[in-house]
Amino acid sequence: MRITIIGAAGLLGKYLLREWTADEVRGVDLPEVDIRNPQVLDRVIGEARPDWIVLTAAYTDVDGCESHPNLAMETNCRGAVNVAEAASRHGARLMFISTDYVFDGRKTTPYETDDQRNPQSVYGQSKADAEIGITKVLPDSCIVRTSWLFGVGGKCFPDTILKLATTRPELEVVNDQRGCPTYARDLARAIVQLCRANAEGTVHATNRGDCTWFEFASEIVRQAKVKAVIRPTTSEKFVRPAERPKYSVLSSKSLEQRNICMPSWQEAVRDYLAERSP
Ligand SMILES: NC(=O)c1ccc[n+]([C@@H]2O[C@H](COP(=O)([O-])OP(=O)(O)OC[C@H]3O[C@@H](n4cnc5c(N)ncnc54)[C@H](OP(=O)(O)O)[C@@H]3O)[C@@H](O)[C@H]2O)c1
Repeated sequence: MRITIIGAAGLLGKYLLREWTADEVRGVDLPEVDIRNPQVLDRVIGEARPDWIVLTAAYTDVDGCESHPNLAMETNCRGAVNVAEAASRHGARLMFISTDYVFDGRKTTPYETDDQRNPQSVYGQSKADAEIGITKVLPDSCIVRTSWLFGVGGKCFPDTILKLATTRPELEVVNDQRGCPTYARDLARAIVQLCRANAEGTVHATNRGDCTWFEFASEIVRQAKVKAVIRPTTSEKFVRPAERPKYSVLSSKSLEQRNICMPSWQEAVRDYLAERSP
């Protein structure tokens, strides 16, 4: 298969390039390819003639999206639809990486793929609108929703916790938001499997199990054998520009139906720490 990854310089994009062996894979990103520019996309996709386009590129600064809503919508929604239109013109399949933030977080049981979208932030809205927009252009697109992405080589929660833990004896971490951590390496492997299996429709892909940010941080320092004490706190103490869903656990049913099983989030922490250590 020929694959084009758009967003290849980002956290997930880099893991995809590393994990995707045995196919002909090309990665593009800014400044060469801006998904807001349909002409450039048309040229690049026309030249590469991929079987699959995996779109990981996005404006991912969730708080930044609140202060730059136009940029968020132009990139995450209009840009994604531009990619779908280019894919449609050149006969490529499209995999779009989306997010748990398309949900409002009011459920108390895992979100299924057909649960109603009700985003509470500009970022979530831009991704929800993109899901609708690309499906109109390409009904057989595959939308992969993931959450709490982490990995080596990018700014992420475990890296922040480990850095803070070396300079502070105590850290306060919110204990009232529950979700599914996802190691970008494991997600990249699942994406390869999904493309090979010609997947379509919406899939939820995260590491197995769920936790709060406090539980996630506690496991990171425990496994890393760092001395810092992690204390639970509430979201009210950590007010941020974009509202975060209180509960955004994504059900693993859609992945299991496709015979894909991702490691538990605790195993993912172990593998991440092994990769991170010099
Ligand atoms: N991180 C998470 O926790 C999380 C959770 C759920 C879903 N997701 C989704 O997963 C995907 C991958 O996330 P990630 O953490 O790998 O993101 P990332 O590290 O921020 O990578 C995104 C890449 O897209 C590029 N980009 C931004 N605007 C672009 C444009 N107009 N045209 C082309 N490229 C552009 C960025 O370039 P610059 O760096 O130069 O801007 C960056 O290289 C994203 O779609 C994200 O929405 C992420």
